[in-house]
Amino acid sequence: MKRIGMLTSGGDCQALNAAMRGVVKTLLNSRQKVEIYGFLDGYRGLIYNNYRMLSGSDFSGILTKGGTILGSSRTPFKTIKDPDANGLDKVEAMKQNYRKLKLDCLVILGGNGTHKTANLLREEGLNVVTLPKTIDNDLWGTDMTFGFQSAVNVATDAIDCIHTTAASHGRVFIVEVMGHKVGFLTLNAGMAGGADIILIPEIPYDINKVIKKIEEREKNGSRFTIIAVAEGAISKENAKLSKKEFKKMMEKYPYPSVSYEVAAQIQEKTGREVRVTVPGHTQRGGSPCPYDRVFASRLGAEAGKLILDGEYGFMVGYKNREIVKVPLEEVAGKLKMVDPDSTIVKEAKLLGICFGD
Ligand code: F6P
Repeated sequence: MKRIGMLTSGGDCQALNAAMRGVVKTLLNSRQKVEIYGFLDGYRGLIYNNYRMLSGSDFSGILTKGGTILGSSRTPFKTIKDPDANGLDKVEAMKQNYRKLKLDCLVILGGNGTHKTANLLREEGLNVVTLPKTIDNDLWGTDMTFGFQSAVNVATDAIDCIHTTAASHGRVFIVEVMGHKVGFLTLNAGMAGGADIILIPEIPYDINKVIKKIEEREKNGSRFTIIAVAEGAISKENAKLSKKEFKKMMEKYPYPSVSYEVAAQIQEKTGREVRVTVPGHTQRGGSPCPYDRVFASRLGAEAGKLILDGEYGFMVGYKNREIVKVPLEEVAGKLKMVDPDSTIVKEAKLLGICFGD
């Protein structure tokens, strides 16, 4: 008999349901008796003991469904040790609810922040197995997170659509891509969508280099330029600021996001017409792509196997084309970023893509 608690925390992404289905199918196929407690809206459900008993049928027909059947919320790690508005010790509450329900293990699906809390719960003595979700692909310890490829598809579609209208009007178009503080999504969607310029946080840009590229393209007969800008892209000047200076500067920042700043600068310095498109949360929405369905199912199956074997304290990840188990303490608190010297960046540059550096 296994009693499993499950929760999805942080920003959602495609294939969360596929991953949970993978875990549950594996457990049920073992023919052991399994009880599944689905905590609602992330850690919040575990803190306030808000759960739903789930059976096999709850996981039927959800392989292709976006979002999460459990709901999600952000419960910042930064404040996890602070009491809630009513003085409740959140960490103690999670431990107590785990013990009250006599759980054998918690299956936690999430990204960076989620993994910090998952590791804390492990340190506090709970059995935890995690799965790496995020469209940002910025989780340490895994080459790939589920949700990422689906988001690349959505962002690429946006760039593809912009291409046709940019060509008609002979304009400069900026597509702002999500990814928080890392550029994997922008780099991949930018390359897939044939962007001429890609700006990512890991390679601070010089606006003059960006303009030079636009002018070069025009000289060579191109009527338009597509720029894929990561939401976390940063100029060379701003990259030099300390954290405190940057925060202060952002307090008076006049633009909705960096893309609008880049657009304003291009417009001001060249007089060209620039338009900004922000696909935003559409990148996290909709059905998971086939890659993510397979990938999340595989991760889920391996997580199920770890639970059956009683092996806890791991994230199931993907390294060098193999599904692997990574100790949670190695994952928590680290960020995976695009290496500016990686072969993909070098290849993009060989293709003529400008990074503004
Ligand atoms: O981490 C996933 C992500 O979609 C990031 O790419 C983005 O910066 C952030 O979440 C948006 O968060 P929220 O949904 O809370 O606005």
